[in-house]
Amino acid sequence: MRRKLAAGNWKMNGLKAELDQIDALTERHADSPIDLLICPPATLIAAAVSRVANDAMMIGGQDCHSEVSGAFTGDISAAMLADAGAGAVILGHSERRELHQESDELIRAKAVMAHQSGLITVVCVGESLAQREAASTLDIIAAQLAASVPDGATGENMVIAYEPIWAIGTGKVPTLNQIGEVHDFIRARLEQRFGTAAGQSIRLLYGGSVKPDNAAGIFTVPNVDGALVGGASLTAADFSPIIEAL
Ligand code: G3H
Repeated sequence: MRRKLAAGNWKMNGLKAELDQIDALTERHADSPIDLLICPPATLIAAAVSRVANDAMMIGGQDCHSEVSGAFTGDISAAMLADAGAGAVILGHSERRELHQESDELIRAKAVMAHQSGLITVVCVGESLAQREAASTLDIIAAQLAASVPDGATGENMVIAYEPIWAIGTGKVPTLNQIGEVHDFIRARLEQRFGTAAGQSIRLLYGGSVKPDNAAGIFTVPNVDGALVGGASLTAADFSPIIEAL
């Protein structure tokens, strides 16, 4: 049985004052059976971790480097994230793939490093609008999964987020059938590669314009085990109803 997961990606948003949102979320969902993950900017990770009591929420990073350490100005290693108290890291978000030219191979190397540091990886996959219109969505997803998910993925160390690029921050959401088709496909590919038990245990999140008013519908789709939420994770007022819809 897969535990539900509500993950928030704050992207490049959030100053110290926004840690109040974490207090509000952990207070309101203290008894929730849903796993919670917030990935604030790296500058807030240690402070966020210190605000969370009783494992009420996991704090994660939004990226890490593929090397252990070295002359990589401005970068953060997986070990540094773990050292700051992070328990997870988002990898291969489409904004990293597009704006930082991250390849599947680089994302895979980052995931290997993150696993070595004991972090859960949330690996993102998703097609562009042009790719969807060209009916190549499943081919794109298959290629991204094959090349960016490392060997040894299990339900303990891996979460996959399906985020159609055209749905991120746009208010456009695929139909429930479209979401279901991709999630079923990802599940089948994971089972094929990692075996039924591991493939069944890896959680699949949907991401892209998840809001309080559409979350409940999205969560009815089989193989949707939660959401990776951007804009609506920035405030407890918006994120809480999404968590409660799970
Ligand atoms: O990582 C989160 C996704 O990019 C979704 O962002 O909820 O603002 O569309 P959004």
